[in-house]
Amino acid sequence: MRKQIAAANWKMNLTYQAGEKLLDDILSADIHLASHQQVIFGVPFPYLIMANSEVSEEAYYAVSAQNCSDKKAGAYTGEVSVEMLQSINIQYCIIGHSERREYFNESNQTLAEKVNRCLEAGITPIFCCGEPLSIREAGTQNDFVAQQLKESLFHLPADQLKSVVIAYEPIWAIGTGKTATTEQAQEMHAYLRSVFAKQYSPVVANEVSILYGGSVKANNAKEIFGCPDVDGGLVGGASIIAADFIKIIQSLK
Ligand code: 13P
Repeated sequence: MRKQIAAANWKMNLTYQAGEKLLDDILSADIHLASHQQVIFGVPFPYLIMANSEVSEEAYYAVSAQNCSDKKAGAYTGEVSVEMLQSINIQYCIIGHSERREYFNESNQTLAEKVNRCLEAGITPIFCCGEPLSIREAGTQNDFVAQQLKESLFHLPADQLKSVVIAYEPIWAIGTGKTATTEQAQEMHAYLRSVFAKQYSPVVANEVSILYGGSVKANNAKEIFGCPDVDGGLVGGASIIAADFIKIIQSLK
């Protein structure tokens, strides 16, 4: 079975102390994970080492950065390289979140470079894609998202592509309380899988975990994760409330 993943994206929220308490609360809860299930905490850079040490004793828990540089090293003040992440044993990195695309002008080409850097360092990219409301209203969301994949991922050979986690996050559903319907989520996820099947092979497509993101909450996670092509979620707001994220984890297939 494909990996089923509950990934938290804390974004730029929580103090160090609050983050540590949140992790303690979640990790001390009575959660039973199976070997095909994974929980990932996407925390701010200054908390990565702390978070990694919190999950170090736990099977099926891991930590993710929320971004990395597309450059290897050098005079890029304020940037964080994959080598730095690798040196503190970080296993995942969120790449191409819509907030980075929008506020930091990250292009599909830059994101292709970031994906490359991650894979070179043995870090799994959690690659975000998704359309704005105007594209959804125009009905061209499939082409829009396929283009994002094409320009940032399709240069990868099949064995590397298989290791990328995809997060489909319709921008109009992020932080708005407006979730895609299960039909909309399933339809897009099945479409994305068909794009991978065509570009690579049905076998490869079947192995790629595709997460849904956009107002996943404790009370809708089970229904969304229940869709056959939805392999869990990338969760913002509800991931920084322990009781809510625990329920979301428990909603994994
Ligand atoms: P919300 O769950 O707050 O809508 O955020 C989704 C998201 O952007 C996760 O990366």
